[in-house]
Formats: sequence, C-alpha cells, structure tokens
Amino acid sequence: MFLPPTDWLPQAPLEPLHLDWLTAAGIEAAILRLDRIDPLISGNKWFKLVEHLKAANNAGAEGIISLGGAHSNHLHALAAAGKRLGFATVGLLRGHPQDTPTVRDLQDFGMQLHWLGYGGYRARHEPGFWQPWLAQYPTLHPVPEGGGGLPGAQGCAALKDQVSQQIGTLGWDDYHGWWLACGTGTTLAGLVLAEAGQHAVYGAMAVPDDHGVAAKVEAIVGETGRYELIDASRGGFAKVDPALLEFIAQTEQASGIPLEPLYTGKALLALKQQIEAGRFVRGSRLIFVHTGGLQGRRGFDG
Ligand SMILES: Cc1ncc(COP(=O)(O)O)c(C=O)c1O
Repeated sequence: MFLPPTDWLPQAPLEPLHLDWLTAAGIEAAILRLDRIDPLISGNKWFKLVEHLKAANNAGAEGIISLGGAHSNHLHALAAAGKRLGFATVGLLRGHPQDTPTVRDLQDFGMQLHWLGYGGYRARHEPGFWQPWLAQYPTLHPVPEGGGGLPGAQGCAALKDQVSQQIGTLGWDDYHGWWLACGTGTTLAGLVLAEAGQHAVYGAMAVPDDHGVAAKVEAIVGETGRYELIDASRGGFAKVDPALLEFIAQTEQASGIPLEPLYTGKALLALKQQIEAGRFVRGSRLIFVHTGGLQGRRGFDG
C-alpha cells in the first residue's frame, strides 16, 4: 500500500575517519554515513521507521500518527516519507505553535499538525493518551516518539549488515565495536540485538540519565547484551557550549563531515574524551555511526 519500493534499499557508505586524536591514540575508526542515505529521509530515522511502516501496512492503515518537538528529526523523516510514498501523516507536537525550519518543512510535506502544549505532551506516556487521537484518526497507525520500541530497534539491525558488506573496503577483517549517539536507545538496542554479543556497542547518551535510556534499552534487549551507556549530554539535552561548537567546527574542517550539536557532535566529542582517558587499547577498530539529524541544525544556526 504505502511501503517503499523493494528496490529502494538505502545504502549508507562506510568511510575511513581520520582525525589527529584517533591517530595519536593508535585507534582506527570508520564512520557509517546514515546522513547520506537520502536528502530528506535521513539518518537512523529511516531504519527506525521501516518496521513501523510494515506494521501499519499489515494493519491496513492509511497513514501514521506520531509525536515530537519543533525540531524533531523523526517527524521530519516521517513527513518526508509520507510525501514520497503517498501516505497520510499527522504530527502531535510538544509545546505551543512555533515557526521553525523543521515545522515549515512538516507543513510543506503535508503533515497535519496539532500542538499539545507542554502538559499535554507530557501526558504521552499515560494510558489512554492515544484513545482520542485514534478516535479522531481511525485509519492511522500510532508510532511512539522517535520511532522507538521493538519495531524501531528491529529496523536498525540492518546497520550491521551494511557494515559487514563494506568492511573489506577498509582493509579490516573485523572491528571491536560501535560508538553512536543515543536519545531513546532504540538504535543502540537494534545493534545489540543484531550483534548478539559478537561486538560491543557503546551508546553516547545525548540526554541525561533521568531520561531512562537504560530501562528503555533493557525493555528491548533484555538483561543481557554487550553494551555500555556513557553520559555525553554535557549537562542536558540540547545544551550546547562553546567547547562543543569549537570541536564540531574543527572536526568538520579536518574531515569534511558535517555534524550537528545535539547528537553526532556530542557523541564524537565523548568518544575523543573516552579515548584520551584510555578506554580503548591501541589498535582498536571502531565504527562510529553518523545518525544524521542535520536538518535540525538549521534551528540552531540562528
Ligand atoms: C540525529 C540523531 N541521532 C541519534 C538519535 C538517537 O537515536 P535513538 O533514539 O534511537 O537512541 C536521534 C533521535 O533520537 C537523532 O535524531
């Protein structure tokens, strides 16, 4: 019905990542460029959405209703997918009406928006939250914030295959582990499931501990799994400081890879700090996941 064409399999390039602090520590890194899979449906969002879309399709739904903030990468990818593939989208937004570049795109992509206020948005985890929305939009399938949950994670398991297929191009025969930004931990959980203990997965949390990332990951992967969560939030979600911005500017100049400050910039800076603190032995090979999010950067460029 509104599934992507079977020949549309987004391929994320795996590229060597050369930065002086990696070289100094004797660490080899490669970057899986999810930001390059598509100009609009970018980053980890497509992988988190795909199983939700299949579930919606199986349920005979005509579209998707989901939630997010005024800079949400998830709503942006969802609205773009709806426009591209021809299904209806409704977005429930945090706070009061705002005019951000993301919101303007959502409207241009044809997403129907409802602003819930802050209290109304906080109620999203309460039982009965969806009831009135599903009564209003009975033909739509609800997707949790950020495209999370088990279906979201299952879609991200494909990232391991993309690395396995390309690892030879780096001249590597294996790698030690993954390093990636976490918001809900869904993408990390997908990798932990796919790896089944083969390689370690390190999650650099873009949100503070009280966002319950550990519990969300455990709810998906169970009590075992080879992963670790590291606080990379720098004092709060979306908190940006001069050292972070300086690091992003230097990295972009040295590597040519665009980063944004909320997820990928914080995750890479946390990796640098952990490497400098001696977390990885010389000769370690790491896969850094570029989870996209570049559209959201427009809201911070002033
Ligand atoms: C750019 C970007 N990177 C990483 C994440 C974190 O992904 P997850 O929620 O699966 O942990 C998100 C969204 O939350 C994101 O938008």
